[in-house]
Amino acid sequence: MPRVTVHRKAHFNAAHRLFNPKWTDDKNFEVFGKCSNPNYHGHNYELIVSLTGEVDAETGYVYDLGILKDLIKTEIEDAFDHKNLNLEVEEFEKLNPSVENIAVVTYDKLRKVIEKEYDLTITLYETPRNFVTYSGS
Ligand code: NI
Repeated sequence: MPRVTVHRKAHFNAAHRLFNPKWTDDKNFEVFGKCSNPNYHGHNYELIVSLTGEVDAETGYVYDLGILKDLIKTEIEDAFDHKNLNLEVEEFEKLNPSVENIAVVTYDKLRKVIEKEYDLTITLYETPRNFVTYSGS
């Protein structure tokens, strides 16, 4: 059967601060600029979850996008939306919540609930022009 990639878009707002606790405030500002603001700042994150798999002969589906929508809500939106990532999300207690690391955490959370037969790719926009992709390696 042909292998097709299906995509589901989602969205969350979250606050963060980029900093390395081993560095001085000056060094953090030098590296992270305004993203190191000690009072945090927010982004409108746009998420695209992509699953690649075989088209099922009986349904014509690769994956039920209603189920994917619900998984994104319970695993990602409920965990991240309107949260301070540094202070309220345990995965970022000791991990800098850069868009790269948020994509990796998002991948790991969804990988646990999506069967291995599907290839998973995360695309995450931090701004309309800055985005990353992660496929698990
Ligand atoms: Ni930022």
